[in-house]
Amino acid sequence: MKKRDVLTLRDLARADLDEVLSLAATLKQERGEGRQRPLLAGRKLGMVFQKPSLRTRATFDIGMTELGGSTLFLGPDEVQMGERETPADCVRVLSRLVDILAVRTFAQDIVAEMARYGSVPVINALSDLYHPCQVLADLLTLQECKGRIEGLKVAFVGDGNNVAHSWLLAAEKVPFRFVLACPEGFEPDGGILDSAVSGGADVAVTHNPAEAVSDADAIYTDVWASMGQEAEAGDRRRSFAPFQVNGELVSRAKDDVAVMHCLPAHRGEEITDEVIEGRHSVVFDQAENRLHAQKALMVWCLGVAA
Ligand code: CP
Ligand code: NVA
Repeated sequence: MKKRDVLTLRDLARADLDEVLSLAATLKQERGEGRQRPLLAGRKLGMVFQKPSLRTRATFDIGMTELGGSTLFLGPDEVQMGERETPADCVRVLSRLVDILAVRTFAQDIVAEMARYGSVPVINALSDLYHPCQVLADLLTLQECKGRIEGLKVAFVGDGNNVAHSWLLAAEKVPFRFVLACPEGFEPDGGILDSAVSGGADVAVTHNPAEAVSDADAIYTDVWASMGQEAEAGDRRRSFAPFQVNGELVSRAKDDVAVMHCLPAHRGEEITDEVIEGRHSVVFDQAENRLHAQKALMVWCLGVAA
């Protein structure tokens, strides 16, 4: 079997995506019934994280443990990647020690270099460009709360960032409408957008949040300044102020709209307290679904029959 890296959602064919989502739903149900299958007994997951994390770290760690394996976490101070040693050297060492790696880093090139030099599967646990694990969990959440993904309208209100890029790739695979509303100058990467459009995805970018959320089945938002952009936070707050997901904006969508946020949230900035705590919010389902989606993803990457 060819090594299965997941650097972006492009690494999953439509059939693979369906397989992962279906296994995630099964694992979630089994866990709810108190049944856990040790599908990855004895396997070791290495986590190399150059940025902070609550959800990603906790869900990979608990997920691998529940599957019967073990984990090794290496934070930025331990590895000092790019300073103490190169990503290529780091991954060739870790490939001798673990069976699979989850890497959270800055440049996409770093995770790509680790996949190229490593002999074990590498999963992108967030880079500046993509966050595939998040959007996998989000698709699972939509499937649960809407019964389907196909045919839905998802409005992303905020920055054309890593999470938005992974949504664009998801829209290349699954036929749903994806409309992103952002201030001028904060559009998603032109190459990623063009490739989604030329691949036939039903996607659009607007500068009008009300237009984006009209008739939406889901409204998604994320922080205005991502990790690594802290110095721009003040300027971004001014540019993004009209793009806040608040009660007024939510009232323009379908009455049963799901409000989604990958967390961590800056309440009072990209989303109000009232909305994140309100009846439309599914944010903690999304957070929990990181666990089920990543368990399924690790099983898929390692080619284990479930
Ligand atoms: N949503 C998400 O990836 O959260 P963390 O940054 O806490 O892992
Ligand atoms: N766009 C955010 C997502 C955090 C989970 C960031 O990269 O910081």
